[in-house]
Amino acid sequence: MSETNKPEILLTGGIPSFAAGDFESRFSLHRLGEATDEEGFLKEIGPRIRGVVANGKVDAGLIARLPALEIVANFGVGYDRVDVAAAAARNIVVTNTPDVLTEEVADFTLGLMLATVRRIPQADRYLRAGRWLEGAFPLSASLRGRKIGIVGLGRIGKAIAKRCAAFDLEIAYYGRRRQDVPYRYYSSLTEMARDSDILIVILPASDETLGLIDAEVLTALGPQGILVNVARGTVVDQPALVAALQEGRILAAGLDVFAEEPHVPQELVALDNVVLTPHVGSATLHTRQGMWRLVLDNLDSWFRGQGPLTPVAETPWPRR
Ligand code: 8YV
Repeated sequence: MSETNKPEILLTGGIPSFAAGDFESRFSLHRLGEATDEEGFLKEIGPRIRGVVANGKVDAGLIARLPALEIVANFGVGYDRVDVAAAAARNIVVTNTPDVLTEEVADFTLGLMLATVRRIPQADRYLRAGRWLEGAFPLSASLRGRKIGIVGLGRIGKAIAKRCAAFDLEIAYYGRRRQDVPYRYYSSLTEMARDSDILIVILPASDETLGLIDAEVLTALGPQGILVNVARGTVVDQPALVAALQEGRILAAGLDVFAEEPHVPQELVALDNVVLTPHVGSATLHTRQGMWRLVLDNLDSWFRGQGPLTPVAETPWPRR
């Protein structure tokens, strides 16, 4: 039994100390990560769980063990870790954290793009290794005159485009549909890659986008081309990317996301023409506080009977 009549919530991952207090004051928390016997733990608390915080995988198997589940609040705007179809089949609401991270991720993307084009981390390593004493750092590629192709012009894609426009760069985008924006639209990703110098990937992971950036797209991007991925590693065919970088079929890549995080293939780590970051696009205290607040507010609003604040597209709300 819960010690109070607070709703019982399952945390599928860790919670930072700055957010834990607020959650504990409103909910009775159960931490999946702390269970030594996950099966036994779920057997005991599963029937009482009414909400899940998805900062770890929430698959159909887990959902099936939670017969009283009403809401899955995903930590992040991308909710590919949640089996939304299994949730929808049981009328379980899924929420995510849009807007609160848009500008942060867009800022980071510009930083990663510049770091990759101008080889800023490599220049830092060069200086630290004492190599400046031997001679100047080799000249890098330039952002000047480069054409940007944005793969996925959603909220974050638009914030990236706005920043690229301020850098006087020509912008195009690829997506499911043409939008009312002053950028050139491509319905063919390969064609956009052929016409672009830098591809920035910022669309959600799904069955349709799995391996979307494949060998053909990378070859079309060309030997001076640069790939920046701040979406999900699975959107890129990672072995094809490694091969394209090794063979000089593209110039460089800036990657914040990988196919099997936190594992990064040694072949990528060994390359000098990549800038690699450990999925930190939204990782500032300011923005993470905003994201945790929105997770909490979604749960709070739901359990007060006021519905979810930011339901995902697969959760039609209000219910018909
Ligand atoms: C988070 C993200 O780092 O919002 C997203 O989709 O990828 C990031 O903001 C991630 O969700 C934390 O696990």
